[in-house]
Amino acid sequence: MDINKLKILFTEEQIQARIKELADEMNEFYGNDEVYAICVLKGAVMFAVDLVKHLNMPIKMEFIRLSSYNGGTSTSGKVNAVDISLPDLNEKNVLIIEDIVDTGLTAKFLLDFLNCNFHTKSTKFCSLLDKKITRIADVDADYYGFEVDDKFLIGYGLDYDGYYRNLRYIGYVEKDAL
Ligand code: PRP
Repeated sequence: MDINKLKILFTEEQIQARIKELADEMNEFYGNDEVYAICVLKGAVMFAVDLVKHLNMPIKMEFIRLSSYNGGTSTSGKVNAVDISLPDLNEKNVLIIEDIVDTGLTAKFLLDFLNCNFHTKSTKFCSLLDKKITRIADVDADYYGFEVDDKFLIGYGLDYDGYYRNLRYIGYVEKDAL
């Protein structure tokens, strides 16, 4: 992939401004109630870290690792729970933090897992990006930053073959340019 073919979709400023808006909504919803913020590695790392900085309630951060992409540019259609060790979430407010919902299979897997294992006080799903157009599983994010088209997105946590997660902006390449 030629980095020069990357077109900017959301600038650092746009991303940070939207994160602040999402955090404002969450601060209003949770008040001073404790929240377990669950960051789904690897993609959500940038978003989760920036989001929690704006949250005012007591927060405990947890990190789990799921994987659905097969190293290339398409989802494998199968969710792989690389590391899903979590504390007791019974009667807790759980906020799942993702970078993108695409087919929704990862989100559904995680929501089903939580449902089967815990009786939470509340479970909310937050994703920076929502690619509604490619959805297979019947899931919706409670909070999302931006709705996006079916382009291959890179940056701010989203990778191409493991690279470019460190970009401060989100760019895209047309799928036929990959
Ligand atoms: C990406 C992303 C979501 C998932 C969304 O993870 O971070 O977890 O895919 O796709 P879906 O809605 O089609 O399930 P990926 O498998 O690429 O792993 P990564 O976060 O380590 O990059």
